[in-house]
Amino acid sequence: MTDTLARDGAADCFSPASINGLELKNRFIKAGTFENMTPGGMPSERLNIFHGAFADGGIAMTTLGYCAVEMDGRLNENMMYMHEGIRSQLSKLIADLHGRGTKVSGQMGHCGGFSKNSELSRKRPLGPSFGLNGLGLSRGMLFCDAMTLRDIDELVANYRKAAVFMKSVGFDALEIHLGHGYGLCQFMSPKTNKRKDNYGGSLENRMRLPLQVLAAVRQAVGKDFPLLAKISMTEGVRGGLHYDDSVAISRFLDKAGIDGIITSGGTSTMNPMIMFRGGNILPSMLKTETSLIMRLILRLAGKSMFKDYPYHELYFLEQAKRIRDAVSCKMIYVGGASSNASFATLMEQGFDFIQLGRTLLSDPDLVNSAKLNADFVSRCTHCNDCISTIESPQGIHCTQFSGAQ
Ligand SMILES: Cc1cc2nc3c(=O)[nH]c(=O)nc-3n(C[C@H](O)[C@H](O)[C@H](O)COP(=O)(O)O)c2cc1C
Ligand code: SF4
Repeated sequence: MTDTLARDGAADCFSPASINGLELKNRFIKAGTFENMTPGGMPSERLNIFHGAFADGGIAMTTLGYCAVEMDGRLNENMMYMHEGIRSQLSKLIADLHGRGTKVSGQMGHCGGFSKNSELSRKRPLGPSFGLNGLGLSRGMLFCDAMTLRDIDELVANYRKAAVFMKSVGFDALEIHLGHGYGLCQFMSPKTNKRKDNYGGSLENRMRLPLQVLAAVRQAVGKDFPLLAKISMTEGVRGGLHYDDSVAISRFLDKAGIDGIITSGGTSTMNPMIMFRGGNILPSMLKTETSLIMRLILRLAGKSMFKDYPYHELYFLEQAKRIRDAVSCKMIYVGGASSNASFATLMEQGFDFIQLGRTLLSDPDLVNSAKLNADFVSRCTHCNDCISTIESPQGIHCTQFSGAQ
């Protein structure tokens, strides 16, 4: 069976491959999708069941979405942050997943100036520059402050500390989140970074903090440990990062020793729909939003923030190929890979691994099923209803296929 999918000498997506010494049994990695299964910041049994289903379904490596590197790096108080208080729960979760034959990556996240965390230790969240904090409006946290140089040093140190902790609890790889409009992306973007010092202005200056973070994390985990970076190839807003910038950004990361680049797009802060193309999430957000002020904002500004991007297979392929051609590190494709035909195309185009988000939410057994059926097409309709479950008490789930999780 697998031979039919390996065309013209291209790799077979069901064959093993390694990244900086970590052997993965196939090319499929579960994309980070914040689970909301860490009430009060504590990993729950539900989180274990959620990732266990992907492990049993044949995925080579699963990713714990949005592991905040410090307490104030959380978008809300139900996200976990890396500290000793969750060591035993995390170690157990990872050991269980290892026992089920799956490797585990942790996505290192920081919200920067975009937060509604009611447990924020500071007066305001910190980003590259003073500005509006769109997410905090419903909780009266209207603004974010600019980081001082001392805050920047502290942030780098916290990434280092989190990486030491994450390696020690058993993660097999770490994914530094440089995309989707979160903290490090805010520094990279000319739209949100208005600094006049060495951290603002040219792309080289805007990359200074992400590269310092990469160096600190590398120092923490050592040279033989896989480090991935997830980037937004475009922010999809005027004055923000665009596809051409992402080629230069990827070269910076490659040169600085990243092991793999994950090519996403869009920002949760300004233009999320580029990231997960398909059904527009505005109507369901209006239905589920409980804050009056946020409902008003969604009514007034929703249409310009949640633009229509119809789904089509491999919607980031052409732009991701430009990065494939520009770097020598491993390339991990994400965005609309939902059939064996698409998986084969990605292998032919020289991608090393494939991250899957919604298709796995709709069918955790995807990898095993695809291996048995050359004509496999995911049942996910890309309606995007799962995104409206992101704050659901049961955690994120597919609303279309009961029993998916
Ligand atoms: C419910 C949901 C939650 C998500 N949460 C995250 C997240 O925490 N971190 C992240 O980098 N991407 C997140 N994403 C984006 C996915 O990782 C992925 O980039 C996107 O869904 C496109 O891939 P797909 O077409 O395979 O779904 C999320 C996506 C969904 C549907
Ligand atoms: S709700 Fe289910 S079918 Fe719809 S996009 Fe999410 S995973 Fe796919």
